[in-house]
Amino acid sequence: MRIAIIGAGAMGCLYGGLLSASGQDVTLLDIMEDHVKEINENGLRMEGKSASGSFEEQIFDTIKATTNPLEIGVVDLVIIFVKSTFTRQATEANRVLFGPDTTVLTLQNGMGNVDAIATVADKANIIAGTTAHGATMLGPGHIRHAGSGKTILGELDGKVSKRMEEIAALFNQAGLETEVTENVTGLLWDKLLVNVGINALTAILGVTNGKLVETRESESLLEQAVEEGKKVAEARGVRLNHSDPVAHTKEVCRATAENRSSMLQDITNGRKTEIDMINGAIVREGRAVSIPTPVNELLTLLIKSKEALK
Ligand code: PAF
Repeated sequence: MRIAIIGAGAMGCLYGGLLSASGQDVTLLDIMEDHVKEINENGLRMEGKSASGSFEEQIFDTIKATTNPLEIGVVDLVIIFVKSTFTRQATEANRVLFGPDTTVLTLQNGMGNVDAIATVADKANIIAGTTAHGATMLGPGHIRHAGSGKTILGELDGKVSKRMEEIAALFNQAGLETEVTENVTGLLWDKLLVNVGINALTAILGVTNGKLVETRESESLLEQAVEEGKKVAEARGVRLNHSDPVAHTKEVCRATAENRSSMLQDITNGRKTEIDMINGAIVREGRAVSIPTPVNELLTLLIKSKEALK
């Protein structure tokens, strides 16, 4: 299958590297020229934990990278991995990748990605999903796979389609453990609540995911943020797949213990974060259903202060 990945950050590289190693024709598309050059000249380097717990390196040299979508043209599958702040911009800038039969998959964090993609792609061609992998960018052409988890995909109308089964099979073949859900709205909210509990707190405290559950105080903040989000989801009639999202978020902390969350990486690198699409989304959605969300409001303000005072 011809696959283009828009956004070659740590997660885009992780999926791209594994899919290309399994025989798919994958091109990464990114604006970072030194990163693209390094991948094309020396391959993509990925560190990952071995069974003994030490970090081992793998080189993916069949993957291609470019800054120019015209070099790729129309593909079978586009996977969008840019920060949700840039979804609309990146989709519009790369519209040459979309043909009438191109499936577009968003595996991004945060709320609002499907609507942003639908400004360019036909909504019937969009599928959504979540990933519980954790990955960190170490430098141009170099990432660390810091924690594994499932990928879950779903059609927007809840049907289990043939294309969905094909994509799930392709991912599984590449070693990306993947399942299909009939409840994609619940799935996106499940992931949103994980990000609500982990991302802002790790970025404010400057710690890896696992640390959040090492002290009672940070664990309590995580619990309160996720509980507020759960109440908002319930008031909006969302059917969550996890009956206990707090426990699930703590499990993700443990499974990706070594990972520096995407928001921590953004703050460290002086980039704008996805706070408006994560904790900020809980505040907005909470207002709409008259559910107070003071912890999420505070986390949003703290992250926005960090962004402004860098
Ligand atoms: O945004 C992230 O970093 C990831 O979604 C997650 C699962 C919190 C792991 O770090």
